[in-house]
Amino acid sequence: MSEAYRTFFGLQREPFSADISLREILVTPAIKAVTERIHYAIRLGAVALVTGEIGSGKSTALRHVTGNLHPSKYRVIYVTATSGSILELYRQIIDEMGIDVSSNSRALLTKTIKQEVLELSQGKKMKVILVIDEASLLRLPVFA
Ligand SMILES: Nc1ncnc2c1ncn2[C@@H]1O[C@H](COP(=O)(O)OP(=O)(O)OP(=O)(O)O)[C@@H](O)[C@H]1O
Ligand SMILES: [Mg+2]
Repeated sequence: MSEAYRTFFGLQREPFSADISLREILVTPAIKAVTERIHYAIRLGAVALVTGEIGSGKSTALRHVTGNLHPSKYRVIYVTATSGSILELYRQIIDEMGIDVSSNSRALLTKTIKQEVLELSQGKKMKVILVIDEASLLRLPVFA
């Protein structure tokens, strides 16, 4: 956006950036509705799906919800999906969990994820939340 437009609209900086800070997110009725539904899904331990037009604010809404969960009670694993294999998704999850596993064995990766989830949920009494942004990129077998 040119300087002239910024001045005309009285904007202090470039609008609609992807790195908008949590505090700057406008809490619209749509975001409130997503928040309530995600909280409901978390309480149930269910799977929730957020859909919407391109650029309608899905990722921002998810960031708003997960960014406002208390870090001592919730462990959010936020990954951005790719069209890769299930192994790639497991590796992304493990990476986000901060675990160091170099193996590419599917069995070992699932076992490691399960152990970490158990440790967080039973050991530390935390709720573990997996967020997969851009999930439409997942190949069907990976999604399944
Ligand atoms: N509630 C909001 N408050 C402030 N800015 C917002 C809000 N929602 C969306 N935006 C702005 O709009 C941009 C697009 O939103 P976002 O990336 O969340 O959309 P999306 O639905 O995830 O898009 P895509 O379909 O491309 O993944 C964001 O980078 C942000 O700058
Ligand atoms: Mg998005």
